[in-house]
Amino acid sequence: MTGTSQLVLRGVRPYGEGDPVDVLVRDGVIAELGTVDTGADTTIDGNGAVLLPGFVDLHTHLREPGREDTETIESGSRAAALGGYTAVFAMANTTPVADNALVTDHVWRRGQEAGLVDVHPVGAVTVGLDGEKLAELGGMAASAAGVRVFSDDGHCVADPLIMRRALEYATALDVVIAQHAEEPRLTVGAQAHEGPTAARLGLAGWPAFAEESIVARDCLMAGQLGARLHVCHVSTAGTVDVLRWAKARDTTAPGTQVSAEVTPHHLLLDDSRLETFDPVNKVNPPLRTASDAEALRAALAEGVLDCVATDHAPHAVQDKDCEWAAARPGMCGLQTALSVVVQTMVRPGLLDWRGVARVMSERPAEIAGLPDQGRPIAVGEPATLTLVDPDAEWTVRGAELASIAHNTPYEGMVLPGRVLATLLRGNVTAREGRAGR
Ligand code: DOR
Ligand code: ZN
Repeated sequence: MTGTSQLVLRGVRPYGEGDPVDVLVRDGVIAELGTVDTGADTTIDGNGAVLLPGFVDLHTHLREPGREDTETIESGSRAAALGGYTAVFAMANTTPVADNALVTDHVWRRGQEAGLVDVHPVGAVTVGLDGEKLAELGGMAASAAGVRVFSDDGHCVADPLIMRRALEYATALDVVIAQHAEEPRLTVGAQAHEGPTAARLGLAGWPAFAEESIVARDCLMAGQLGARLHVCHVSTAGTVDVLRWAKARDTTAPGTQVSAEVTPHHLLLDDSRLETFDPVNKVNPPLRTASDAEALRAALAEGVLDCVATDHAPHAVQDKDCEWAAARPGMCGLQTALSVVVQTMVRPGLLDWRGVARVMSERPAEIAGLPDQGRPIAVGEPATLTLVDPDAEWTVRGAELASIAHNTPYEGMVLPGRVLATLLRGNVTAREGRAGR
C-alpha cells in the first residue's frame, strides 16, 4: 500500500474479546481503533470476526530451489497467506541446500518478489546437511537475508561436538539453532512410532527415546553454554517432560535458552491412523500415541511448548501414492494449521484467542527475533493481521489447496475456523479464499 491509501476493517474483535470495533489502517499501520467514521479505499466487513496478529511459521518446506514440481516460494507464499501467515521460515533442505549466503539470499529475494508473506530462509547448520562440517553461519547471518535461524531439519545434528560448536557460534552471532531431534543410530530403517501398532503392522519402529535423548543432550549443552536452542516438532510426552525440566532450571530470563514447537498434526492425529497403510500419514517424527498427543496439547496450553509450527512438507504424487516404506515423510499444513488448532485447543477450552495469538504469532516472532511480527493490535503498530471466522466450518479438499502438492492427512475432514483475510503491513494478501496483492 503506497501514498495515503486507507483500509477499514469493520466490526472486528481483537483477540476475540469485547464488542466489535473498527480498525483504520493507513500506510500499513494501525491508525485508529474504535469507531471509524473516515471513508477508505477498501472496506472489509468483519461481522464480529476475531482479529489476531499475523501468524508466524518457524518451520515450512517451500522446496525451491530444486523441487518446484511440489512447491515454489510463490505457491507456498499463497498457501501461507491463505492460512493466515504473514511470515514463514523456509527450511534449508532444498537442492542445492541452503548452506551458504548465495542460496539463502536467493530464497529471500524470491520471497520478496512474491510479496505475500515475509519468507525468511533458514540456513543449514552443516554443509550439505551432512552433519560433519559446520556451514558458514556468520556469512549467512551477515548477508542480505540476515539469517537468524539455522537448522539441518530433515536430519539431526547428531554429532555432539558439531552441535556444541553450532551452539557456540549461535551465541556469538545471536541466532538460534533449531534441532530436528532424532538419534539416527536408533532410527535406522524406521517407518512408524515404535509401539504396539507398528509391531502389529510389521513396521520398523522409531522409538520415542530417539527424540528424547537428543533433546535432553541439547538442553544440557545449551544450558551450560548459555546458548539458544529451539526444538523442532516435539512429538512425545517424554520430550515434554525433558523440556519442562530444562525450562525450570533456566537461570537466565525465562524462556530464553530453550524453546520448542509442536505441529498441528501431532496435536490432532495419532498412530491409529497407520491402520490403513496410507502414506499420507507418514511423517517424521512419526505420529505417536493418543496419550502423547494429549500430553502435547496440555503442554502447549501450559507453555512448556512455546508455539505451533506447521512442518508444511509438500510431496509429489509419486512420492506419496506408493507403498509405505518407499513414501517420503511429510504433510502439507499451511492452510489447515489454524483450523487444527481451533479443533484441538480452542474448542476443548485449552486455549482462548489470546492464547492462539501467543502460540501462532507472538512466541514464534520472539523466538526468531522478528521485530515487526507478532506485535500487539494497537494504534501505531504494523497492520500485519489475520481475520478469523471462529464459527465457520469447512471441508478440507487437498486439490483446492494453493500448494502445488496436495498431500493432506485431513482430506474430507470438516474443520472449524476459517481465515477471512490476511494483511501484511496493510496489504491484503488473502481474502475470501483468494491470495494475491
Ligand atoms: O516429515 C518430514 N518431512 N519431516 C522432516 O523432518 C522433513 C520433511 C520434509 O522435508 O519432507
Ligand atoms: Zn524435521
